[in-house]
Amino acid sequence: SSQATWGGRFSAGPAELMLQFSESVSFDRRLAPFDIAGSKAHSAMLAHVGLITKQERDAIHAGLDAILAEIAAGKFTWETKFEDVHMNIEQALTKRVPAAAKLHTARSRNDQVATDMRLFFKHACGVLQEKIRGAERALLAAAEANADVLIPGYTHLQRAQPVLLAHHLFAWLEMLERDRQRLAEVAAHANWCPLGSGAIAGTTLPIDREFTAKALGFVDAKGRPQVTQNSMDTVADRDVFIEFAAAGALFGVHASRIAEDLILWSSAEFKFIELPDAFCTGSSLMPQKKNPDSCELLRGKSARLQGNLHTLLTLAKGLPLTYNRDLQEDKPPVFDTFDQTAMCADVLAGTLGGMEVVRARCGAAVADPALLATDLADYLVMQGVAFRDAHHAVGAVVKLAETNGVALNALATADVQQVHAGFGDDWAQVFDLKRALTKRTGTGMPGPAQVKRQFARWRKILK
Ligand code: ARG
Repeated sequence: SSQATWGGRFSAGPAELMLQFSESVSFDRRLAPFDIAGSKAHSAMLAHVGLITKQERDAIHAGLDAILAEIAAGKFTWETKFEDVHMNIEQALTKRVPAAAKLHTARSRNDQVATDMRLFFKHACGVLQEKIRGAERALLAAAEANADVLIPGYTHLQRAQPVLLAHHLFAWLEMLERDRQRLAEVAAHANWCPLGSGAIAGTTLPIDREFTAKALGFVDAKGRPQVTQNSMDTVADRDVFIEFAAAGALFGVHASRIAEDLILWSSAEFKFIELPDAFCTGSSLMPQKKNPDSCELLRGKSARLQGNLHTLLTLAKGLPLTYNRDLQEDKPPVFDTFDQTAMCADVLAGTLGGMEVVRARCGAAVADPALLATDLADYLVMQGVAFRDAHHAVGAVVKLAETNGVALNALATADVQQVHAGFGDDWAQVFDLKRALTKRTGTGMPGPAQVKRQFARWRKILK
């Protein structure tokens, strides 16, 4: 028979090529801490229900602890011939303690790997939430340091209306905070214990699923154990994998959009900001160049994060219930999403943290009176003019300024009044930026009072 764990019914072992093809230990070894935690909880449960003795449980626990220490010290020998992280650890345990032969009682690698991954997701979501918090804090600090700076807001990348820079930064904060909350939801979805589902149909042995769930922290807010409700779904389900990758992909989209704004703002054409040298690189040819590489890579990584999501969706879509070996391919995209999202959040925090605002350039750009053309239409509305007529009249005023080659606010009052009788002698007061911002008092608007409220809100959230 074959030497493999499952070798009983085989007369020959797998081909060397098959071993290379089917191994996953090269990438799933990072699950070792979760695999060992799962095995300790499972063996504790086996002892609890009397399927193994307390001595056997203790021997298994001691053996697993020693193996974990060896792995952490980099002294563990991972072997391709044992396929995956689960069998490598079980084989190593078998060499140490005879009771190892009982560890896999009432368990399959199918519910084992599902458990390892759910434990991984709970951990990973926590790590990523903290890293996103880091980027959020960098944003709040940038807003604090530049609380009085105004810039044009853009639609279609054309100057639209003036906003406080802090309002723009807080828009990014909203995006990142949704990403953080999404990760909390993914962690909640992962919070159901698969163990006890077995390969597909549970077990005939008298196990206690709630005991294992509790031991592994698969509990609700009140500490009640949460176990999955259908053994077939449990070993086939990869929803959390997809949700995790989707959360990473959407964070990537947000990071990419932020990066795109930063790239534009740091160009000579805008120069609203100077990016930190530490997150830029030079050109091998052009000595003057300072390129926004961290931002460009954030944009690039978002493509990769989307690719990981797509891989998982495609992997799952055609599979018959329940477990199929295809599913082993679920891990590389998940781990890559974790690693890249973590690094992107850190790099975003570093780039934002070192960004310098060029106040003079922001001031010059926001001084463009055309940014207040909408406010001029609002002025007419307040005189009782219908908005559509007001819009048309202001459009004609803009055209007149263009024809005369003067700024919108430099037109003669008489000329403006000729366009529409609703313009009073005070029409040019509209072009006071301070007045324009102060009038924006509603929730979510860029007026100073509202932005102040947002400062307080974010300080509280990020304290
Ligand atoms: N390495 C496998 C995976 O990640 C573990 C589950 C193997 N199960 C099986 N029936 N061959 O999917």
